[in-house]
Amino acid sequence: MAKKQITSFIFISSVLVHTHSADENYSAVMPQTVTALTGSCVQIPCTFHISDFEDKRNKAESIYGIWLKTTSKFAEKDGFIAFNSSENIIRGFSDIQMTGNLRERNCTTVFNNIMKNHSDLYYFRLEMEPVFRVTFNPITDDSKKTVRINVTDSPQPPELKPSKPVMEETTVNLICSAEAPCPKLPPTISWSNIPESALITTQLQEKPDKTQSVVSKLTFKVSYKDHRRNITCTATYPRNTPDASTVETIVMLQVLFPPKETHIIITPSVGTNVTLTCKSCASPSNDLNYTWYKHGEETPIAWGAKINLTQTQTRSYLCIAQNKYGKQSSEEVHHTGQSGLSHLVIFGCTGGLLAFLLLSAVFFYWMRTKASRQAHVIGSDQAINRDTMATNNVTAISKNGEKKETDDLYYGEIDFSKLQTGHKTEELSNNVSETEYSELQVTQR
Ligand SMILES: *[C@@H]1O[C@H](CO)[C@@H](O)[C@H](O)[C@H]1NC(C)=O
Ligand SMILES: *[C@@H]1O[C@H](CO)[C@@H](O)[C@H](O)[C@H]1NC(C)=O
Ligand SMILES: *[C@@H]1O[C@H](CO)[C@@H](O)[C@H](O)[C@H]1NC(C)=O
Ligand SMILES: *[C@@H]1O[C@H](CO)[C@@H](O)[C@H](O)[C@H]1NC(C)=O
Ligand SMILES: *[C@@H]1O[C@H](CO)[C@@H](O)[C@H](O)[C@H]1NC(C)=O
Ligand SMILES: *[C@@H]1O[C@H](CO)[C@@H](O)[C@H](O)[C@H]1NC(C)=O
Ligand SMILES: *[C@@H]1O[C@H](CO)[C@@H](O)[C@H](O)[C@H]1NC(C)=O
Ligand SMILES: *[C@@H]1O[C@H](CO)[C@@H](O)[C@H](O)[C@H]1NC(C)=O
Ligand SMILES: *[C@@H]1O[C@H](CO)[C@@H](O)[C@H](O)[C@H]1NC(C)=O
Repeated sequence: MAKKQITSFIFISSVLVHTHSADENYSAVMPQTVTALTGSCVQIPCTFHISDFEDKRNKAESIYGIWLKTTSKFAEKDGFIAFNSSENIIRGFSDIQMTGNLRERNCTTVFNNIMKNHSDLYYFRLEMEPVFRVTFNPITDDSKKTVRINVTDSPQPPELKPSKPVMEETTVNLICSAEAPCPKLPPTISWSNIPESALITTQLQEKPDKTQSVVSKLTFKVSYKDHRRNITCTATYPRNTPDASTVETIVMLQVLFPPKETHIIITPSVGTNVTLTCKSCASPSNDLNYTWYKHGEETPIAWGAKINLTQTQTRSYLCIAQNKYGKQSSEEVHHTGQSGLSHLVIFGCTGGLLAFLLLSAVFFYWMRTKASRQAHVIGSDQAINRDTMATNNVTAISKNGEKKETDDLYYGEIDFSKLQTGHKTEELSNNVSETEYSELQVTQR
């Protein structure tokens, strides 16, 4: 069956090609493959070259453009001809328009109302009566091109670039391009989950093979908060069916940045020994490391995300997180040597504010219910300089009272900003050792 078709085709070609002298130089340029959407149209950009074209054109009485569909059977007379511009003969299609001007070597053609059975290889034939006839086919020469129309029910998802990591605070351009095989009904492009400051420019562009695509450019300055943001580009194709066809592509932004939101979490073990955990958010995070310092000391006391403190190690501590793009210090936290209670665990990069709100809520709740035995600490963003760190304001709120007391509590608010940092530590420890219930809050002013 297939063999029969091929032989038939070669026969047709020979018949059509050999109507002109063998040394003629001719070629056609068209895309190798176009993907068309059912119910839409497809434009085949097409130009051709023939030696002494102007001369032939002047001698010709009429010029016709013809499209041949390969799998049609030669047995049916003229069955293989999908289109003949001479009398606008159309077979197997509801509408075909030759929009290019053949006299200017332009054979651009639009096939309308595409159906599944239009998927095929198409050949262009030119008839300049009575001077010259040629079918541009690849059997005699590779340069003489044909076009394959590939019909699909759903369009290709748009292409979205780049997906490679970008440095924070740089301006990034995301390019989303969607094929527009039918330029008179191009797809519309929309973006979702994009930063507020993003600028969008969209235009129809011609590709090297002369087919069109809609290209939308999204421009914005990336922040570290955009790390892992999933940005979606959606292309909606209009078609002559009730439902438009929608396809989308998602890209996850990869932002590179030095440590941020470095803070310490105190996890109380049973009794008075605690574990301090240094939390930070950085990208890449695989080379993220932590160094611990005692207040006022230059030499690190430990490395790693966690340190254990016993009752006797009542000092202020801070940690410095580092990756290959830089480092950041946490706030100092003070270990009181008292048993503590803190279940705060912060996930992700945007946990800082959440944690603050959470802690505020918890704090006020506890103030109301007069619960006791607690210590929690908030650390927030801070510059690397440890000297400035030492002068940071520390506000301590301590509650004095007895366990069985239900009504009156005394709140002492002490601002240590004007005190020396050495005093601060002592004040706090003294204060705390005298009081059974303490609440410590370290914030950055
Ligand atoms: C055919 O024509 C093209 C451009 O007109 C030319 O570059 C090419 O060399 C020609 N080929 C032959 C075999 O004459
Ligand atoms: C195209 O139509 C013209 C005019 O009807 C006709 O002379 C010509 O043979 C047709 N071409 C083909 C390949 O059928
Ligand atoms: C495709 O199918 C439609 C009906 O389903 C028919 O009218 C048309 O002739 C077919 N076209 C081809 C090229 O086979
Ligand atoms: C060929 O014609 C089409 C349709 O009129 C037009 O869009 C295209 O620019 C033309 N191509 C050239 C090379 O002139
Ligand atoms: C045609 O489209 C189908 C999907 O509909 C795809 O699998 C196939 O690879 C495409 N063929 C070409 C030549 O692009
Ligand atoms: C983005 O998508 C990836 C993969 O589906 C997922 O792992 C990631 O959590 C998503 N990012 C956000 C911010 O939701
Ligand atoms: C705290 O740690 C010290 C030293 O490791 C240990 O001797 C003590 O028993 C621990 N206390 C509690 C309550 O676990
Ligand atoms: C800290 O204490 C925990 C549990 O008590 C223990 O598993 C861990 O190894 C200790 N870490 C260090 C650095 O001593
Ligand atoms: C921590 O990581 C940085 C960057 O990768 C590296 O330069 C530094 O030597 C590391 N420090 C430790 C203590 O491993």
